[in-house]
Amino acid sequence: MTENGLPAQGIAWEIEEYLDLNGNHLRINGADSLDLAASYGTPLFVVSAPRIRQNIARLLEARRYHQRLKLCYASKANNLQGVLRVVREAGCDVEVNSGGELFRALRAGFHPDQIEMNGISKTEEELAEAIEAGIYTINLDSPFELELVEKVAARVGKRANVTVRLVAGVGTRSHAGLQTALYTSKFGVSPSQAREMMLRALERPELINLAGLHIHVGSQTPDPEPYVEAFAAMWDHLLWLHGQTGHRLQHINIGGGIPVNYLRDRSQAEEISEDERIMLGASLTAAEMMEQTLKAVRSTALDAGAVSLLDDLEIVMEPGRAVIADAVTLLTTVRNSKFRPETGEEWLLTDAGYNLMLSMVMYHWYYQTVNASRAAEPHTARYRMAGPLCDGGDVYFDLHGGHHLPDCRLLPEGTKVGEVIAMLNTGAYTISQMTAYNGRPFPATLLVESDGTIEVIRRRDSYEDLLLNETW
Ligand SMILES: Cc1ncc(COP(=O)(O)O)c(C=O)c1O
Repeated sequence: MTENGLPAQGIAWEIEEYLDLNGNHLRINGADSLDLAASYGTPLFVVSAPRIRQNIARLLEARRYHQRLKLCYASKANNLQGVLRVVREAGCDVEVNSGGELFRALRAGFHPDQIEMNGISKTEEELAEAIEAGIYTINLDSPFELELVEKVAARVGKRANVTVRLVAGVGTRSHAGLQTALYTSKFGVSPSQAREMMLRALERPELINLAGLHIHVGSQTPDPEPYVEAFAAMWDHLLWLHGQTGHRLQHINIGGGIPVNYLRDRSQAEEISEDERIMLGASLTAAEMMEQTLKAVRSTALDAGAVSLLDDLEIVMEPGRAVIADAVTLLTTVRNSKFRPETGEEWLLTDAGYNLMLSMVMYHWYYQTVNASRAAEPHTARYRMAGPLCDGGDVYFDLHGGHHLPDCRLLPEGTKVGEVIAMLNTGAYTISQMTAYNGRPFPATLLVESDGTIEVIRRRDSYEDLLLNETW
């Protein structure tokens, strides 16, 4: 057995006591996926509570390198109340990105101290809600936002905890749209403005508690170096501020981006371009990231006589996909098939498309396909696959032939209409980004427990729900 509970041999997608076989069927924490599909219909999201807990426990191993580590689950990755509850009970705090996510987090039982807020265009109302609640911190995205928070704090009559979100010109090997610490990105405050902004934040201590610094280098970051660079930039600012004013920042937030290995099964890895392969198959852990990051900073802290500043610091991390991506399986049924004589290709048309997996078209995200009805059989036959939407872009491959995704998916010979396909690792940026395009009601979501308990945490929408809030 390897670390992460993966089998050393056997079916590559198997995860001990989580994803395995029930005869020829895919089983999820003991539940037969075909029974789930038959009882609840497809498309159907199935969330594994034990896997969420395992993922959080693994992330918390980073405490080996710094005990004062605060883990704030990036709820944008999947903000269902049932998921937030499991996350909270597993000892993880939460990151929110809007008034709506703040509302969700509070409703899910998080204490205000456990909540930090990001956001690039926060409204005064959202800021007022955060300040009134008394959350851990609000990450400020510009000098303008500092003025806004001061104004709102004065109106609310309560002091606001704030953090300066830096952008430090740090690149990663992820998608351009998932890199958020470049000067060309829309996020954060430039170093040339941050120092003045921090001094400005100290001018009204009755309204503003300048609590920390933040950088999020981006999502699915395969290497430790960007984190090392980002932390060093924040540390430099922290030391400067301390030297100038004596002010001790309470935390440094190193952001999210710990990657998920979407290519545990390498059977189609070679069909994806090299850049994507490196990114999607990344295995960097939070502990490795923290070890390397702190090794670099500790020596500068020693030189600067600032070891106590480092030891007293709370380090915040905001992982999203590393908590939830591989804890969810999307079950979809093949509803149509066809043979195209001109190209010699077999097509399978499912009931789940980019309405449920937006990243598949936006970033050519790879989700592994397993025939849940015949999971034990060799997956060697090639099929063009596509979703149900009336949009030629709703396909499981790279429409532009750029090999960002495999052209065909490998499934058992003779895969046919009525069989259930499992899309693995579909927990992050799927449910929270789904749309009802083409009049397709949102699917149900189940939460499975290791003792066999199955809970519906989101009911399937009805046709009536499609009309919700329309006035005519
Ligand atoms: C500010 C911030 N923090 C954390 C995250 C979570 O990233 P990930 O899901 O890759 O861990 C995101 C998402 O990109 C983000 O924008």
